[in-house]
Amino acid sequence: MFFEQIATERGCQSYIVGCQETCAAIVVDPEISQVDRYLAVAAKQGLRIHYLVDTHTHADHFSATCKISEMIDASVVMHRNCAAPFVDIRVNDGESLIVGKLRVNFMHTPGHTADSMSVILPDRVLTGDTLLIGSTGRTDLPTGDPDQLYDSLFNGLMRLDLGLRIYPGHDYKKLGHSTLEKELAENPRLQNSSRAAFVDQMEALNLNAPQHLTEALRTNLSGGKTVAQLISEASNRVPFMSMEEVLSRIESGQPDILLLDVREKDAYENAHLPGALLIPRGQLELRVNDELPDPTRRIVVYCELGKISTLAAATLRDMGFERTVALDGGFKGWAEANYPIVIDTP
Ligand SMILES: [Fe+2]
Repeated sequence: MFFEQIATERGCQSYIVGCQETCAAIVVDPEISQVDRYLAVAAKQGLRIHYLVDTHTHADHFSATCKISEMIDASVVMHRNCAAPFVDIRVNDGESLIVGKLRVNFMHTPGHTADSMSVILPDRVLTGDTLLIGSTGRTDLPTGDPDQLYDSLFNGLMRLDLGLRIYPGHDYKKLGHSTLEKELAENPRLQNSSRAAFVDQMEALNLNAPQHLTEALRTNLSGGKTVAQLISEASNRVPFMSMEEVLSRIESGQPDILLLDVREKDAYENAHLPGALLIPRGQLELRVNDELPDPTRRIVVYCELGKISTLAAATLRDMGFERTVALDGGFKGWAEANYPIVIDTP
């Protein structure tokens, strides 16, 4: 069995599991920033990814199952309690998928969320956020339930062979893996096996809401895109021009570029690049016919920080302005570098 654990900077863990004999593989809990890595690891190992499994609806990071399934012919697998419409195969407790000669078994382990499941392999369990190393998933987010988590731990996972290794969905301390036996003996949350004590303990945690909670639930439940994903996809098809290059063109007196400021009117009037034309991002599509009649113009778009300008440049390229580029940086960086600006006097 091929097995590789891939971690993000924020401690999210995902796993590539493959049958080396048949070259079939699955990815468990893929995260959006690591898409190229999963595909590269699979390619390097000569594996084809058949299934993209999410152990639950993540509330704290962005799943890549949808994105990868658009790129390759692989099915998205989740527990049947998951409400997301893009799931191809909904599995239930006690079911398994065949991955080459490997059987991948699923155990419904609700509590962190109602759709949480653990992925059981011959010698290990991928526990998602049900059981972490030295901790458990929280139960205070949507569909969480400490009573159910108690059953999933004490009457579910801990009834498996205790020699099984566990690989969690999050590992903030870079511990990698543990075993069920070790967790039963040492995990602070499992030291009192009374249901009431466990539920009290979970309800007393009083944790902060995860960063990006709303955006994670929106995108992970709909298959929609994150803001960072929109900007990243736009930046993959837009060339950039450095501030130094733009400056030298302005100083040459024959810039051969049209500087387009897509910020709001008051920001533009406050200060803008010399010779820049103002079309706020929100009015761009409706005003290009009047203000940018020549689609062959070489346009350099800028905004305050360099993100909105990337989206605006991608839009202009979609509309046929094929020589549009974005300023590498924003007005803020330009002004901080003490490059020339123009202040409109009323
Ligand atoms: Fe989670």
